[in-house]
Amino acid sequence: MNKSVTTHQAEDDARNEQIQIYVNGRLVPRDQAVISVYDSGFMLGDGVWEGLRLYNGRWAFVDEHLDRLLEAAKAIDLTVGMSRAEIFNALEDTRRANGMETDAHARLMVTRGVKSRPFQHPSLSRLGPTIVIIVEHSRPSLPRPIRLATVPHMRGLPMTQDPKLNSHSKLNCILACIAAEKAGADEALMLDINGFVSTTNACNFFIVRKGAVWTSTGDYCMNGITRQKVIDLCHANDIAIFERNFSLVDTYGADEAFLTGTFGAQTPVSEIDGRQIGDAKMGPVTARLRGLYKDMIEQEAG
Ligand SMILES: Cc1ncc(COP(=O)(O)O)c(C=O)c1O
Repeated sequence: MNKSVTTHQAEDDARNEQIQIYVNGRLVPRDQAVISVYDSGFMLGDGVWEGLRLYNGRWAFVDEHLDRLLEAAKAIDLTVGMSRAEIFNALEDTRRANGMETDAHARLMVTRGVKSRPFQHPSLSRLGPTIVIIVEHSRPSLPRPIRLATVPHMRGLPMTQDPKLNSHSKLNCILACIAAEKAGADEALMLDINGFVSTTNACNFFIVRKGAVWTSTGDYCMNGITRQKVIDLCHANDIAIFERNFSLVDTYGADEAFLTGTFGAQTPVSEIDGRQIGDAKMGPVTARLRGLYKDMIEQEAG
């Protein structure tokens, strides 16, 4: 059996050892980019983040990413302390400081900041947020399609920890991924509280049956930007698309399955719980959507 791979696998790039990282308004070399051990993000996972990609000098779908970041910050009552334009400028400054024009990936993180004492209460985070932007040279490189395993960890109800929040704390997803790896797979396929297929631990999930594309209702998964773009592309190109409940029976019997996310765009799935999906290669509908998505990015980048 092949070694496990991750959905965020990229070519090695030695330049990433020398990058400048944005930390609270300063650009500092990677080995000096540190934050306090009292930081709310480190101590409690109390923060929100976005992953963005740079193509041809432009951050793809940047408006959607900034909307989602600011909405999540508002939802957790975190004051970012920077305007939308200032956040965008910080992203731009970081990529320019690193001479990046394309094939770069940003992780933009905002936490509730440094605490005065090492306890949970949010009022102890008095010093303003911590804002960090890491931008790496990044060319996705997947040696083979992804294998998934279903795990006992569920996508929960919004009143527990809303699965739509891109929170720093990803423990539910991490435990799901560990369980999948222990089952010999690469990433976890997660069900919702009713047992319907929802998403994976780090990407959104789609199947293709008889030429039609199916994805979950969206109630229990991240409101992925790539997920929405794939849905939009289906509508615009007369590809049948259903946002609906479906089970593992529908999933095992699919002709194709693929994942979506900013990093990997559309990533083929070859196997789920030991069942081969289609001919275990990227299927024609997945390949078509990948092409359409690539064109969409190129149009965006002008
Ligand atoms: C759990 C989860 N699902 C899906 C996604 C993909 O979302 P997007 O397409 O916006 O990158 C992410 C990315 O942050 C995620 O954390």
